[in-house]
Amino acid sequence: MRICIVGAGYVGLTTAAALADFGHEVLCVDMEESKIESLRQGIVPIYEPGLDELIHKNVSDKKLFFSSQVAESIQDYPIVLIAVGTPSNDDGSSNLTFIKQVVDVIASTTNVYKIIITKSTVPPGTNEWIHKTLIEKGLKEDSFDIVSNPEFLREGFAIWDLYHPNKLVFGTKTSRPIKALRKLYERGKAPYIFTSLTGAELIKYASNAFLATKISFANEMARICDAYEVDYADIAKGLGTDPRIGRYFLNSGLGFGGSCLPKDLSSLKHSAVNKNVETKLLDAVRDVNETQIDQYLNKLTTKLPNLTEKQITVWGVTFKPDTDDLRSSPAITLIKKLVEKGCRVHTYDPIVKLDLPDVYAHINRYESVTDSDALIISTEWKQFLESDWLEIKSRMKGSIILDARNCIDGKLVRKYGFVYLGIGNI
Ligand SMILES: NC(=O)c1ccc[n+]([C@@H]2O[C@H](COP(=O)([O-])OP(=O)(O)OC[C@H]3O[C@@H](n4cnc5c(N)ncnc54)[C@H](O)[C@@H]3O)[C@@H](O)[C@H]2O)c1
Repeated sequence: MRICIVGAGYVGLTTAAALADFGHEVLCVDMEESKIESLRQGIVPIYEPGLDELIHKNVSDKKLFFSSQVAESIQDYPIVLIAVGTPSNDDGSSNLTFIKQVVDVIASTTNVYKIIITKSTVPPGTNEWIHKTLIEKGLKEDSFDIVSNPEFLREGFAIWDLYHPNKLVFGTKTSRPIKALRKLYERGKAPYIFTSLTGAELIKYASNAFLATKISFANEMARICDAYEVDYADIAKGLGTDPRIGRYFLNSGLGFGGSCLPKDLSSLKHSAVNKNVETKLLDAVRDVNETQIDQYLNKLTTKLPNLTEKQITVWGVTFKPDTDDLRSSPAITLIKKLVEKGCRVHTYDPIVKLDLPDVYAHINRYESVTDSDALIISTEWKQFLESDWLEIKSRMKGSIILDARNCIDGKLVRKYGFVYLGIGNI
């Protein structure tokens, strides 16, 4: 099959590489010319394990192509998959500017039957709006099908997830595109869920809201554990063994971030409020998340009461391991708060050299701790667990480790003389 993917970001690029590897001819287009130019030169603009290799393989097999000619490319392909960004507006609603740009191009270039697949996360009603808009702009009902096909991949595991999705969700208005959809995804064996356009949109929002709820629940439980001097890890284990609950997304820590959970939660709230539906639970989930960083800073001040002029090292700046995505990273919020409090902040991250005013970014984790009063672990990269704690202790001025992801062995680092702090990890 021949597919044009619009948007060469985290979703568009990984989907393009996987669909090309499934055997389709894929053209990935983006309005950012520099991004397309890099891709043409073999430079992949994002970090995602396995992505470089998959792109290079499929480019050399002549199954994957890149272009910045958005309109011409959309016109030329019978299947168009939209993977542009849908960031938040200031009021928490979704900004659909990029979606609207693509819809305008589709409206002005479609003259033979096309399947239009929306993979971007969009609020309930958006795909119905796209359908209505295309009709209003002169397209005939039988000249296109619109499919709402939300994406559930996890950054850091995107390639695995595209090959092993736990479901494929398709919202359609008619059964006409279903055969083509089955063929498009035949390599990714997973249950198919067919629903309405808006049903598919809401499955995506419900999934992310539920994951965010689990994280805020874990964080509130960890606070209670802290007050009762109980190890939250035991509670998570106890909860996680119950198949009705499941172990995933029960880790406590700095809270959820990234390009999806915070924005999708506020967009869902906005969509609910638009229809006069109260969102007490979603509000509570957000409130717990927004106070999580201060909980950790308060914990730090129990041992380091005056943070002014203190040197603090933060390990991990992305919102999760195995990605270079800094969008809504709790670590960045934490770093900015430390700077505001007058700390001298040093950072280390295995992938990203952070560029922020008044922050010293290192490319060596041991150098990053030299003369620091405290070390904060803010992303649970595997490398951090295997650190040489003796070396770190000898370089640091102070001895505090604040484990904001409950990921390192507290007992072990205490043996090296560290003061190990966290919430719900005694
Ligand atoms: N990142 C994730 O883990 C993830 C997971 C599931 C769903 N999603 C959803 O997928 C969508 C894309 O997310 P992302 O993280 O890949 O975004 P991104 O910002 O990384 O990439 C979007 C790309 O679209 C391009 N673009 C925007 N408007 C365009 C236009 N008119 N023509 C051509 N290109 C255009 C941008 O230049 C950018 O390169 C969002 O709706 C997001 O919520 C993301």
